[in-house]
Amino acid sequence: MWGGRYASGPSAIMEQINASIGFDRRLYAQDIAGSKAHCAMLADQGLISAEDGAAIQDGLDRILKEIEAGTFEFKTALEDIHLNIEARLAELIGDAAGRLHTARSRNDQVATDFRLWVRDAVDGLDEQLQALQAALIEKAEAHADTVMPGLTHLQPAQPITFGHHLLAYVAMVGRDRGRLRDCRARVNESPLGAAALAGTSFDIDRHATAAALGFDAPMENSMDAVSARDFTLEFLAALSISAIHISRLAEEIVLWCTPQYGFIRLSDAYTTGSSIMPQKRNPDAAELARAKAGRIVGAMTGLMIVMKGLPLAYGKDMQEDKEPAFDAAESLSLAIAAMAGMVGDMEADPDAMERALVDGFPTATDLADWLVRVLDMPFRRAHHVTGQIVALAEKQGCGLADLPLADMQRVESGITQDIYSVLSNVASVQSRTSFGGTAPGRVREAAKAAREKFL
Ligand code: ARG
Repeated sequence: MWGGRYASGPSAIMEQINASIGFDRRLYAQDIAGSKAHCAMLADQGLISAEDGAAIQDGLDRILKEIEAGTFEFKTALEDIHLNIEARLAELIGDAAGRLHTARSRNDQVATDFRLWVRDAVDGLDEQLQALQAALIEKAEAHADTVMPGLTHLQPAQPITFGHHLLAYVAMVGRDRGRLRDCRARVNESPLGAAALAGTSFDIDRHATAAALGFDAPMENSMDAVSARDFTLEFLAALSISAIHISRLAEEIVLWCTPQYGFIRLSDAYTTGSSIMPQKRNPDAAELARAKAGRIVGAMTGLMIVMKGLPLAYGKDMQEDKEPAFDAAESLSLAIAAMAGMVGDMEADPDAMERALVDGFPTATDLADWLVRVLDMPFRRAHHVTGQIVALAEKQGCGLADLPLADMQRVESGITQDIYSVLSNVASVQSRTSFGGTAPGRVREAAKAAREKFL
């Protein structure tokens, strides 16, 4: 494989540690596309003959068909996807195959292939995240008026609408898509033609190959082109954050569908039973979506550590970039798909949400705000007065709306019957009309804006 200098082949262990064909075979389409662009450029520049160029193009097309038909024989002895394809090309078209590697090395080749793969993965994930947003927005619109407890510290805080809660995730996913978009712009530069590290003495046209492969431009520095993997790190970082967002929603779903909460019911399609407990409906899909964040962040961390301290230019360490990226992309893709399915299918139980608002005095802030608005009390004092009223209600075992006026007046004589107009959960959410607030009108407006922005 290594030509003149080598008298004997590698040891079995060498072959095993060195080979990447087991996983980089999935770059075959990108590798062939890169080779075809390179070959066309070599012919256009007069660096190979038109005949050789045509034979190479034809051979590469045949190889693509063989791989897609499953008849291509991948060989570990040929190390990676690049050498496997090149060797098959030689079998198919003979000596002309050897001209394809003019002014190119596997270092720029693999970086090119992998950037093309990451670009496709970004586009695929973006589409899936958009579908998740669509499912969330649809549910949010259906539940713009559905009141539920809003929590901080997992403790009852203030009433919110279910629609508002779901739209929070639409915003998060929107930023995840933005991060992918930003990442894509930096991914989309062509390393091809950087050759091993120093560029080449041949009169190649890197702008032409970059354009042919849909890259925005050739990378400016040949050493950077072959040794940069921050595009993968950035991809994994974007995936990690997205996976963390998915895991938060997954956790909420796990909580919401417990009998203790009962806020939602997942469909049969996204739950599993138990082999021993006949009553069970377990949210396995949500749990697994929650867990995927672990391996995705692990993939990012692992590659960060591989890259740390690597001297320029290429080092074989970089071959370790692919498996984590493949696994992370696959894991996130599955998690998003499961999440979109669960959200689309889930049924909310507004009565259970309302029951959950009975405890915890969720309209205490509304009471304090009333004291500020109507009695012109400084908020800090209103906070204190409300605290005393809450303590009273707690002692009597009732909610604020059920506490007799006389009791409230014992704490603050200025309170009138009008106070009850702000103590219901519905009144509370309807009053939160500030921009970005949970008032049903605002939620409907926000859902519409999200549709326009994201879908
Ligand atoms: N299989 C290699 C990788 O994934 C391709 C580049 C090999 N380059 C080299 N100089 N050995 O990184």
